[in-house]
Amino acid sequence: MIVRTPPMGWNSWNTFGRNIDEKLIMETADAFIENGLLEAGYNYLVIDDCWAEMQRDENGRLVPDHIKFPHGMKYVADYVHSKGLKFGMYSCAGSLTCAGYPASFEYEFIDAETFASWGVDYLKYDYCFRPMNQQGHALYKRMGLALANCGRDICFSACSWGVDRTNEWIKQTGAHLWRSTGDINDSWASVKQLLEKQTEYFTTNGQGCFNDMDMLIVGMHGKGNVAVAGCTDEEYRTHFSAWAFLGSPLMIGCDIRNMDEVTKSILLNKEIIAINQDGAYRQPFDCGNHWWAQDVKVWAKFLEGGDIAVGVFNLSDGPADPFFSFDTLGIDRVSGKALEIRDIWKGETLGVFKDVFRTEHIAAHTCKMYRCKVVDAK
Ligand code: GAL
Repeated sequence: MIVRTPPMGWNSWNTFGRNIDEKLIMETADAFIENGLLEAGYNYLVIDDCWAEMQRDENGRLVPDHIKFPHGMKYVADYVHSKGLKFGMYSCAGSLTCAGYPASFEYEFIDAETFASWGVDYLKYDYCFRPMNQQGHALYKRMGLALANCGRDICFSACSWGVDRTNEWIKQTGAHLWRSTGDINDSWASVKQLLEKQTEYFTTNGQGCFNDMDMLIVGMHGKGNVAVAGCTDEEYRTHFSAWAFLGSPLMIGCDIRNMDEVTKSILLNKEIIAINQDGAYRQPFDCGNHWWAQDVKVWAKFLEGGDIAVGVFNLSDGPADPFFSFDTLGIDRVSGKALEIRDIWKGETLGVFKDVFRTEHIAAHTCKMYRCKVVDAK
């Protein structure tokens, strides 16, 4: 199975943690459709940790919690599929999951077969309780191979948080995406920290095995399993833009049954999603090293068909007036070329610019997302 663009969907962990059950999952599947999420490209519904009984059955198979999932997982998967969605589940490469449930160490092939028999399309695979004598790359290879041979296409989402130099071996394992950073929580500090860490991995990102910066916190507003301080709507917009720009999977973490209008307008912006899902999937690069303001990031990315995306992220606590010079984008002063620049969040094409573009004043923790078209300079 080849995955050409970053997966998009929803995961239960950020808001619900261990409080998951059949009813929640089925209502969430309905909410995907009612809110236009499926239409916008979000198609994976993923159940995270805490879905299983504490013991395997007499044949060594994982068993869904009888109280949370009384009809079993095939029933839930069938419902999710009936809505046109794909169904995801969670396990772990160690002996226990991070929350202490049975995990797949030494059960890789049997678990992959079990997931396939339930109709699972996506497996998030964590890294807790790794036996001391085992190496990460070997554990992920085992599950990667088991999934590739289970008879069903299953997207393999590795979650070893970037530790043990994951970036050096993860592409060997069959993973389609890999968590390049630690866990997110619902705060601006967490968004900023994960973004800064991600800059180390710009050159690792690539089609078929995407850097995963963790699930989105947009719309959580300080409620739920990973709640801390919460963010303002503008901070959520910056967070979403940056994850989209850097090509991270877009896995929603809020309660999609109860989204407010601002949350929907952020998560459903088609032009931002198009930058995330761009067919060329090029790596981002720095195009405006503001050495006097390290917290102001100006990044570019070439898009399919010749356009250029530029994202300006003011991570600092004060206002900024950044700019970018077109020669850093491959357009030198004698090229005869200019850029027609569209401000995506404004929904406005700003005009044609030569040599350099100075952004509007950008308030603390906010961002600008531009789509630039190469045109002849007049
Ligand atoms: C963490 C993982 C989280 C979540 C949690 C479940 O290791 O990074 O995203 O899956 O385990 O226990």
